[in-house]
Amino acid sequence: MEKPFSQACENNKAPILAVLKEVLKYANAVLEIGSGTGQHAVHFAPCLPHLRWYCSDVEANHAGINAWFNEFPAANLIAPCRLMLGLDPWPNLDVDAIYTANTTHIMQNHEVKLMMELVQQHLPIGGVFCQYGPFRQGGEFSSQSNRDFDQSLRERGYGGVQDVDTLKGWAKGLALTAKMAMPANNLCLIWHKV
Ligand SMILES: C[S@@+](CC[C@H](N)C(=O)[O-])C[C@H]1O[C@@H](n2cnc3c(N)ncnc32)[C@H](O)[C@@H]1O
Repeated sequence: MEKPFSQACENNKAPILAVLKEVLKYANAVLEIGSGTGQHAVHFAPCLPHLRWYCSDVEANHAGINAWFNEFPAANLIAPCRLMLGLDPWPNLDVDAIYTANTTHIMQNHEVKLMMELVQQHLPIGGVFCQYGPFRQGGEFSSQSNRDFDQSLRERGYGGVQDVDTLKGWAKGLALTAKMAMPANNLCLIWHKV
């Protein structure tokens, strides 16, 4: 199978990895929600050899993720499991960290709320959740391009760009410990289970 390709992943993988190297320094195992093409997983896992990287996504994306795994295998990369929040049960994995990129604005509101609840339910105390993507803050978009993006997402039936305050309201049991500005008007939200 030809590998699926995302230019956005190529652009953002280096700055995200720099954040992950810090926030996942002491993590043992990470669940990635919405691995997409698998490009992030194959880039990050070999650079974080102290932990296991578990991918997940809808089944339709597994062949593409596996195509990347076959070309760039790593001992700590684990084949994707099926996880569509709202449809599938939470995977039976022992992880102390969760990572997701560019999924929050794709999901419907009830799926994002569920994600925030399930993440806090399944992380151990001190566990970390790293959430990358475009977000609003205090109701404001960080750029006109993010405002336009939000509108086009909603027109196509996606949930749209979430406000950090809305996420905080849903993330009971998670403390937002860092909010890192990233290139292209994105943020890395770092949550810790308290
Ligand atoms: C824009 S892609 C991002 C993929 C990848 N993380 C990246 O940064 O390129 C959004 C991903 O979210 C996944 N997704 C959408 N709704 C989901 C849900 N309810 N539960 C889990 N994953 C979901 C899609 O299957 C897709 O892989």
